[in-house]
Amino acid sequence: MNKKIKIAIIGLGYVGLPLARLFATKYSVVGFDINTERVSELMSGTDATLEVSDEVLQTVLVKEPSSQSGLYCSTSIADIKDCNYYIVTVPTPVDKNNRPVLTPLVKASETVGAVLKKDDIVIYESTVYPGATEEECIPILENISGLIFNTHFYAGYSPERINPGDKEHTVEKILKVTSGSTPEIGKKIDDLYKSVITAGTHLAPTIKVAEAAKVIENSQRDINIAFVNELAKIFNLMNINTHDVLEAAATKWNFLPFKPGLVGGHCIGVDPYYLAQKAQEYGYNPEIILAGRRMNDSMGDYVASEVIKNMIKKDIKIKDAEILILGITFKENCPDVRNTKVVDVIAALKEYGVTITIYDPWANTDEVKQEYDLVSQKKMPNKKFDTIVLTVAHNEFKTLNFKSFRKEVSVLYDVKGTLNEDVDAKL
Ligand SMILES: NC(=O)c1ccc[n+]([C@@H]2O[C@H](COP(=O)([O-])OP(=O)(O)OC[C@H]3O[C@@H](n4cnc5c(N)ncnc54)[C@H](O)[C@@H]3O)[C@@H](O)[C@H]2O)c1
Repeated sequence: MNKKIKIAIIGLGYVGLPLARLFATKYSVVGFDINTERVSELMSGTDATLEVSDEVLQTVLVKEPSSQSGLYCSTSIADIKDCNYYIVTVPTPVDKNNRPVLTPLVKASETVGAVLKKDDIVIYESTVYPGATEEECIPILENISGLIFNTHFYAGYSPERINPGDKEHTVEKILKVTSGSTPEIGKKIDDLYKSVITAGTHLAPTIKVAEAAKVIENSQRDINIAFVNELAKIFNLMNINTHDVLEAAATKWNFLPFKPGLVGGHCIGVDPYYLAQKAQEYGYNPEIILAGRRMNDSMGDYVASEVIKNMIKKDIKIKDAEILILGITFKENCPDVRNTKVVDVIAALKEYGVTITIYDPWANTDEVKQEYDLVSQKKMPNKKFDTIVLTVAHNEFKTLNFKSFRKEVSVLYDVKGTLNEDVDAKL
């Protein structure tokens, strides 16, 4: 049975590659991506996202497409022609007005539509709003292929739940929600995932249910973080340490342990907008979801103003003050800089005329330059600063000897509240 299944994974990023690698331990898998650099890097046995170790990647790579288990990566549509499962894992970002951008999903559906055959199954994993698979993607598959949905070909939705940089909760260890366009196809898709996901699966009754489940997981996190961010703003006014309050409250069995912080990245800061847009199309204005987004998007400016207040309290001259930013990625121990909110802190600080130095051992310096026109360094600069802002809790920062990088009168601001050091303020 295994020999007959041939899987194409469309989009080999943070989500697609770990999934392709996992399926390749049992099935013949072709990874397809439009990024030629990414494909040649993967075929040489290296993953720049660091989600799959080189050693593990190399154990599944095969030099050419074959019917045996293994992973072959390609930019050529010809290489995915004879697959019978197509799993789409392309980005679903928002534009500058926070509106969903479905272009990669549309393009990927066109690609799949061009090779779709009778009885093939197309599974979407990208995070979307409820209805996107059936309303946006399926019509493209039908148009391009000329085949009829649920007669000639079938579909499913199985949201990804990985957490970039998390080496504990890897794809096979996270219970996976599955769904299909008919009950039989749902069962077939569920069996496919069950064969590789050791944590098991949950077969949702419909594609829309599975889509909605994913988007609310991240919206719930966003709202919970927004709540503690609001608490941080309140308690800072009252001169009460928020972290001490949260630690005390967390001793109750049903208190949820969220921490204040910057909410960036590709998921939590983006997905609620997908749900919000769809709700608005139905004439409902999602007040709580959008209030959470507004709160979390305001935190960069807030951190910058708190840093400046702390400097003024110590009589540190603001103009031309030298400020070191520790971390530019959107989260700790991960090289992902997409939608990082550290750039909001930097932009707001720059308005005060300070000089910014960025140190991040994880971030790709070229990507930071290209995306944000900022210079990030891979090495800790050997000098003393007026202020150090710990924006990302990379492990490397926990063992830094902060004293040797601080001027005699200086501020150490800990956004993440993780330093044991004698900090001047935490978020
Ligand atoms: N990164 C996460 O932690 C995470 C977690 C859960 C869900 N998701 C969701 O999974 C989806 C993918 O996210 P990601 O982080 O892997 O994105 P990514 O940017 O890391 O990777 C996407 C890949 O798709 C490729 N691509 C873009 N358009 C393509 C096309 N038309 N055909 C083929 N390849 C194409 C890109 O070149 C890139 O390599 C998104 O919807 C995201 O919301 C992400």
